Amino acid sequence: MKILVTGGAGFIGSNFVYLMLDKHPDYKIVCLDALTYAGNLETLEEAMKNPNFTFVKGDIADRECVFDLFEKENFDIVVNFAAESHVDRSIETPEIFLKTNIMGTQVLMDASKKYGVKRYHQVSTDEVYGDLPLERTDLFFTEETPIHTSSPYSASKAAADLLVLAYHRTYGLPVTISRCSNNYGPYHFPEKLIPLMIANALNDKNLPVYGDGLNVRDWLYVEDHCSAIDLIIHDGKVGEVYNIGGHNEKTNIDVVRIIIKQLGKSEDLITYVKDRAGHDRRYAIDPAKIHAQLGWLPSTDFETGIKKTINWYLDNKPWWEKIISGEYQQYYDRMYTNN
Ligand code: NAD
Ligand code: TYD
Repeated sequence: MKILVTGGAGFIGSNFVYLMLDKHPDYKIVCLDALTYAGNLETLEEAMKNPNFTFVKGDIADRECVFDLFEKENFDIVVNFAAESHVDRSIETPEIFLKTNIMGTQVLMDASKKYGVKRYHQVSTDEVYGDLPLERTDLFFTEETPIHTSSPYSASKAAADLLVLAYHRTYGLPVTISRCSNNYGPYHFPEKLIPLMIANALNDKNLPVYGDGLNVRDWLYVEDHCSAIDLIIHDGKVGEVYNIGGHNEKTNIDVVRIIIKQLGKSEDLITYVKDRAGHDRRYAIDPAKIHAQLGWLPSTDFETGIKKTINWYLDNKPWWEKIISGEYQQYYDRMYTNN
């Protein structure tokens, strides 16, 4: 079995590469990644030592590069993680989100169609469903919830999802889609809430909480997301969408307080800053379908997962210190000063 993993130098894609090399030692894994600001080859250093793993630098929206690779490799399965993934950046510069997330998906599917890929899997997000009101704790996103996006990021992911379903219906491309809630764990880029708060707290820097801090996210340990995708690409039904989540809803301020406590820091570091434009209030996944049809359940609860994550950031300081001292610093200064 030969699998193309796009975006494998990023957070979730790299965790998926490691899970697959470990669980399926007879599979060949090829990673295609453009190494944008969010891609990091150091993350794949261990994978590079495995003869079943190959890294290719390239853009999923580059038709010639993608078609050449498909021609050469004859993939059985394609799993598309490659994306621009940060909501705040999509508010600043939407265009690249449309190019990578929509056009890139189309190029990958055209190649999958031409070269007879047996399964094209699109890694999507619960953000395509928009948000839920805070007070309606009885409501959850199911696969039937209408698409209703808020940010350029979520709109680009939703557009890609619709295109994926259209390629299935129109051309018979054997597709599946997964829509997961917020992930956390090793190799998470420190622009996102959890790794940003860990890095800032360790450096005794302010912890910027948007708005009132009461927005709710449904957190899933990254390995659980990856194991769900492994199940879907093998046993999932073609043409279907699967929601992935672990019923672990927390307000942002609670997450920040948990991190502060674990690190023995002071709550005085918390700084309320200007809210994100169009900020989604609450995400909450109903994972009943993937549980009933594929038997998937998360195996790491938040208490265990956040400890593992914090320990990973403590043990791997060079990995994130390099990031926050580079180009990312300019982004940070632009986003968070004058708030
Ligand atoms: P990330 O930003 O950490 O990584 C994205 C990777 O894609 C990087 O390695 C980057 O170099 C690569 N990439 C970007 N543009 C590319 C292009 N044009 N061609 C090739 N490679 C390109 O993102 P992530 O958090 O790992 O998210 C991975 C996927 O999972 C995304 O599709 C995202 O929408 C989805 N998702 C993320 C979350 C989350 O909580 N992080 C939750 C649900 C779904
Ligand atoms: P984020 O990690 O960007 O993921 P998403 O927007 O895709 O859910 O943000 C998670 C939540 O944390 C979101 O409600 C925005 C909030 N947030 C802050 O309060 N401060 C920050 O510095 C960041 C990056 C996010």
